[in-house]
Amino acid sequence: MKIKMAKSAGFCFGVRRAVDTVYEQIAKKGDSPIYTYGLIIHNMEVVKDLEEKGVKILQNEDDLRILESGTVIIRAHGVARNIHRLMQEKNLKIIDATCPFVHRIHQIVEKESRDGKKIIIIGNLGHPEVEGITGWAEGEVFVVESLEDAADLAGKIKDNACIVSQTTFNYNKFQDMVDIFTEKCYNGTVVNTICNATEERQIETGLIAKEVDAMIVIGDIHSSNTAKLVEISRNECANTYFVQTFKDLPLDLPDTTTLIGITAGASTPNNIIEEVQNYVRINF
Ligand code: F3S
Repeated sequence: MKIKMAKSAGFCFGVRRAVDTVYEQIAKKGDSPIYTYGLIIHNMEVVKDLEEKGVKILQNEDDLRILESGTVIIRAHGVARNIHRLMQEKNLKIIDATCPFVHRIHQIVEKESRDGKKIIIIGNLGHPEVEGITGWAEGEVFVVESLEDAADLAGKIKDNACIVSQTTFNYNKFQDMVDIFTEKCYNGTVVNTICNATEERQIETGLIAKEVDAMIVIGDIHSSNTAKLVEISRNECANTYFVQTFKDLPLDLPDTTTLIGITAGASTPNNIIEEVQNYVRINF
């Protein structure tokens, strides 16, 4: 069995930076307890390891409100402006590991909405990154995640809007949705804020999936960028398997399989990818 491994598989720059930030704080061994606002990464293995080292998780704004002191690390997804302000008001030590690509979207949304534009975010409603971006808009803000949503909103908003995207959104779907707004006489600003790491990973996944007999996509069940890789892979390769660890791999593959592709989401640690790779080498 031959394996084609995606070069882009695994931690992206932003996730690595955020995870390293937490480990650096642990290594400093200060007196102040360490918290992350939400899960630092959508990967339970990493989160469990951090918890064992004493890091606590603030699940939401309510947890933050009752916190009296400590160091709070903001994850790569970023937070809404009101959450950031609340951390400042409470005099907590803030370590901001918001990915610079996400930070850029916050700045665009803040500026454009201040200039009177309505903000349209192409992304997944309820995703923490999208919630954070929403929270930097001063005026009206809409989240659209499907072609139907886009068609519906485009009929109501004719112009004076700024469109941005969640950093991990499917690139082709983003283009299709922008086309819908453009067709309906839309003449606002469009900023493609899908990050390069995501675009490269999605393109590579599609290319590999086209070529192989079976495709394995590794990532956490809650990772939205992994879910998008699965979607892209399934469009090209019917034998796409989504696994969280090697334990989720199927016992056997279709008889005709000679080439397997492997990719992984941005929050999948290297050791998990290696385990899957080794399992495939030994067992298939
Ligand atoms: Fe940043 Fe892109 Fe990763 S936005 S967190 S480098 S997926």
